[in-house]
Amino acid sequence: MTGASDTTAPQATPVPTEGARAATLHVPVLLDEVLEALAPRSGGRYLDGTVGLGGHSAAIMERIGPDGELCCLDRDTAALAHARQRLAPWGGRVHFFHTRYADFEAALDQLGWDKVDGALIDIGVSSMQIDSAERGFSFHADGPLDMRMDQDGDEAPAAKLVNRATVDVLKDIIRRYGEDPMAGRIARAIVDARAAGPIETTAQLAAIVDRAYPAKWRATSRNHPATRTFQALRMAVNDELGQLERFLDRILDRLNPGGRLAVITFHSLEDRIVKHRLRDESQGCVCPRTVSRCECGHKARVDVLTRKPVTASEAELARNSRAASAKLRAAERLAEGQAPRPRRRNKYAPEGRDAAEGDAS
Ligand SMILES: C[S@@+](CC[C@H](N)C(=O)[O-])C[C@H]1O[C@@H](n2cnc3c(N)ncnc32)[C@H](O)[C@@H]1O
Repeated sequence: MTGASDTTAPQATPVPTEGARAATLHVPVLLDEVLEALAPRSGGRYLDGTVGLGGHSAAIMERIGPDGELCCLDRDTAALAHARQRLAPWGGRVHFFHTRYADFEAALDQLGWDKVDGALIDIGVSSMQIDSAERGFSFHADGPLDMRMDQDGDEAPAAKLVNRATVDVLKDIIRRYGEDPMAGRIARAIVDARAAGPIETTAQLAAIVDRAYPAKWRATSRNHPATRTFQALRMAVNDELGQLERFLDRILDRLNPGGRLAVITFHSLEDRIVKHRLRDESQGCVCPRTVSRCECGHKARVDVLTRKPVTASEAELARNSRAASAKLRAAERLAEGQAPRPRRRNKYAPEGRDAAEGDAS
């Protein structure tokens, strides 16, 4: 199966008929919180846009009874292979597509589903991706500078960007997506290092970034100096913010009234996009105050369930440090003409378990 492009309909892949083999039992982030937010109902149809290793999907399948169905997407064929094994016990009620979640509509169309009762995206990198040196996401083990989530798709590997982009382009990427104050120095160091030959491995790049950091910063920095550069390049290579924007543009049209949307992000820029989009979609008239009668015709389409983002509990953080930057926001699709409920604290999160108001605003 090929990676889906913007114009190519994704293809369904068969679920293996033999029993599930022991796929790595990865524990998904914010699992209880996602289930509360999605409130999966028996017999419902659900979308998991980032099935990964199938942890959230398995929990959804456990709750939607013998008639419920789930559409699972991932742009990474290795992740899909794991997910197929993990979700094999549910047979043909789980449908797999190798595609990007921004292209979810083609998958639903192929299944003949007009709408779903809930949709989840969990848009981090999977532990399998990070831990595989040959995927090039991490500098903790040396590997090729790749970073593509979809190695069969049309994205170029990070090596191409690192070896061909101008100083200004590199600086912009590292500043915008990595929010690294040393972006200019790092970009210049990368371009200078290229004069001696192409930068091909994660270790090479990490060493260049490390040297570009002033010694004082290096000594006091909590993380490796290359952390932000790697994150920034990964986001650029996979057009991660573009995917999120396009998904949010379309998903509400495909949610049944009462259907829930849950989004887990790991980056402040992503959380900000989700926060603002949900806030805008929860508003009725957006005319200026000076207008006495509504002229905009804007209607609220969602009730926001998370006034503040939900973050991991102490217990989860003790088990899984990768959950530290995870933020969950959720909303419920309103029926035509239905007014949102009055705004109050998070409508389902346990007391004190949401991040401080104003985060990532
Ligand atoms: C954090 S993991 C998801 C883990 C999953 N919720 C679980 O319980 O195992 C993120 C997954 O999303 C996939 N992914 C990221 N961006 C994507 C996109 N735009 N379209 C489809 N899949 C994407 C990655 O390949 C990865 O497998």
